[in-house]
Amino acid sequence: MNWRNTAERYGAVAIGFHWIVAVLVITLLAVGLVMTDMKPGPDMFKIYATHKSIGIMVLGLVVLRLLWKLTNPRPASLPTHRTWERLLAKAVHLFLYFAIIAMPLSGWIMSSAKGFPVSVFGWFTLPDLVAPDKDLSKAANEFHELIAYTLIVAIVLHFSGALKHHLIDKDGTLRRMLPCPCRGKGDRE
Ligand code: HEM
Ligand code: HEM
Repeated sequence: MNWRNTAERYGAVAIGFHWIVAVLVITLLAVGLVMTDMKPGPDMFKIYATHKSIGIMVLGLVVLRLLWKLTNPRPASLPTHRTWERLLAKAVHLFLYFAIIAMPLSGWIMSSAKGFPVSVFGWFTLPDLVAPDKDLSKAANEFHELIAYTLIVAIVLHFSGALKHHLIDKDGTLRRMLPCPCRGKGDRE
């Protein structure tokens, strides 16, 4: 398997970035929703700190992923994809990229504005993005929550699209994002 993307399929690096970020983002969404219902205490603070550290890790991975994307071709849509499918997939991918940048940034701004510097796994502390500001912290919190719920809808749509292509259309859309050499109807290699 190639490290780099080809015109037909994603390469090992893009596939690695996709699945590592996907697992981390889905975990962060679940942990975020659970931790905000916890009673304040050492467990809650530990989970908040881990949520923030992993969230910043996602931001770092997304920056590297975008740099890699800039230097690689994007596999072309399969000839079996209809126009509405291409447009919908493109819009959802754009939103997913927006969300995985906006979530960590709004979290970082929220923490800075609350006066809590962000420590990454206790290894180092990030500079504050803004000075303490109650209104800004509230706005960043609301934005973080709104994008989180919209992201859940987008992931469900994205996941359903991938499953539809795999199970109903039986084309190679999902296979080309997997480290799997298997082929099927509609694959171009
Ligand atoms: C892709 C990255 C991230 C995802 C998917 C994510 C997801 C979430 C979710 C689903 C919630 C619960 C929302 C609610 O019901 O209020 C949440 C809350 C929170 N997140 Fe994140 N988050 C991410 C990154 C970050 C980062 C990097 C930070 C800080 C550096 C952060 C700080 C917080 C804080 C402080 C809360 C609690 C807000 C409150 O107490 O109401 N998040 N996050
Ligand atoms: C839940 C399971 C998931 C499945 C089955 C899945 C499947 C796929 C597949 C098959 C593609 C390639 C689409 C194509 O070739 O047109 C893709 C692309 C993509 N996925 Fe996922 N995905 C999942 C989760 C996620 C999550 C959680 C995120 C981010 C929050 C994400 C972000 C993306 C992005 C941004 C692309 C576009 C990649 C590019 O061309 O630059 N995916 N996904």
